[in-house]
Amino acid sequence: MSHGLRRVSGMAKIRPVYICNACGGEFPNWMGRCQSCGGWATVDEQPVIPSALRNNGVGGEASEALCSIDDVGSVPIPTGLDEVDRVLGGGLVPGSVTLLSGEPGIGKSTLTLQVAMSIASSGSKVVLVSGEEAPTQVAARARRLGAVPPALSVLDTTSFDAVSAMISRELPQLVVVDSIQTVRIVDLDSAPGSVSQVREVASRLVNLAKGFGVSVLLVGHVTKDGALAGPRLLEHVVDTVLSFNGDRSTELRFLRSVKHRFGPTADVGVFEMTGVGLQPLADPSRWFLADRAVDASGSVIVPVLDGHRPVLVEVQALVGERRDQPAHLGAQGLSASRLRLVLAVLERRAGHRWDGRDVFTSLAGGARSDDPGLDLGVALALLSAGTDRPLPPDLVVCGEIGLAGELRLPAQLDRRLQEAYRLGFRQAVVPLNSPEGPTGLHLHRCSTMVDALASSRLVASTAV
Ligand code: TYD
Ligand code: MG
Repeated sequence: MSHGLRRVSGMAKIRPVYICNACGGEFPNWMGRCQSCGGWATVDEQPVIPSALRNNGVGGEASEALCSIDDVGSVPIPTGLDEVDRVLGGGLVPGSVTLLSGEPGIGKSTLTLQVAMSIASSGSKVVLVSGEEAPTQVAARARRLGAVPPALSVLDTTSFDAVSAMISRELPQLVVVDSIQTVRIVDLDSAPGSVSQVREVASRLVNLAKGFGVSVLLVGHVTKDGALAGPRLLEHVVDTVLSFNGDRSTELRFLRSVKHRFGPTADVGVFEMTGVGLQPLADPSRWFLADRAVDASGSVIVPVLDGHRPVLVEVQALVGERRDQPAHLGAQGLSASRLRLVLAVLERRAGHRWDGRDVFTSLAGGARSDDPGLDLGVALALLSAGTDRPLPPDLVVCGEIGLAGELRLPAQLDRRLQEAYRLGFRQAVVPLNSPEGPTGLHLHRCSTMVDALASSRLVASTAV
């Protein structure tokens, strides 16, 4: 007996790991307050046994030359919904687990049902595990969305064992679990939706997916108050994490990939929530510019990048006099720190003072962007609003403003200019070293913000 004990103590020590119950952060030592999420008393010890101790080197499988392994298993199968396939780099990979996260009510159940219906319409078996809605509700929603394919089934359960048995028995091509927070493993005594349940359900589903070559699509709610164990906890467990969000006051919805084991994560899918489900919006620029008042002051069009995709948005500014109360700054759809920086540079480098004035900026149509290329658009929108002079209707502007007032090239300006030209814009204010734009788009190249202000006034006075 003592021999065995000595052997263990002579080898690597068993090192515990400390895991935060709230955010899933892992640490080498205990702490009263989690370093990642700031939660108090959320970090607990979880013993891990180094893999060296699990096996004494006897048996096990031999390693395999990497070049001899073909990767047919990671070829994506299209879902048939173009905006979803664009974000997934082609489709869902068999044997992979994808998490779709978003706030309640944003449209996750609708989107996953549409994916399920689309895949099932080609005859592949799809099972929707519905822990939140009764099968009658799911059926009613499916009928609203279109013809319901016979290859689509629903499993009304919250039990992990039932899901596992169904997968091994029916071997569907796709299993949708709506939502991960409702599924429960009975051996664990914690409540559904708790950290240990969510984490364990997800990792067992990963094993099942890999073992049976089934694609699994998990729905996960994110709540602002963190009442349910959030999808962030699962980011390192699953293969792909998609976030679905939008402004609930408009019908616009964005699908982005936060993590994707099988390809780049930069593309974005854009949808409109309609009476018959989510419809792809292949041309989001037209949406954002649809209600534009062309001869209004304080309006500037900027081609921004959303992921790799150039989209035209309208920056609007309003400047008001305020003598009696403290001045107010407002930024909607873009960051307030970007607005403050532009105001400071306008003041220091171009002598435009803003004290005592209310300044509001917004991206029209519910757009949101943190693209540095917006800086120049914000500056010009503010000046146009302050002087009440509209810019020409066919002008776009794009450039990042440095603290010295210099203009910097934003990423992929050539693709942004192509998009502007496609939508009928014919002149652009851009940084000096801008690439050539499409023929027919006149470029006003400027090295500083002050040059750009002068140049835009010039173009405004000739065109208006
Ligand atoms: P849902 O997919 O249930 O959201 P989640 O699963 O993220 O909680 O969608 C919720 C909203 O979408 C709900 O307010 C109704 C609306 N909706 C439509 O506008 N059109 C439709 O065709 C469907 C199915 C839902
Ligand atoms: Mg739902």
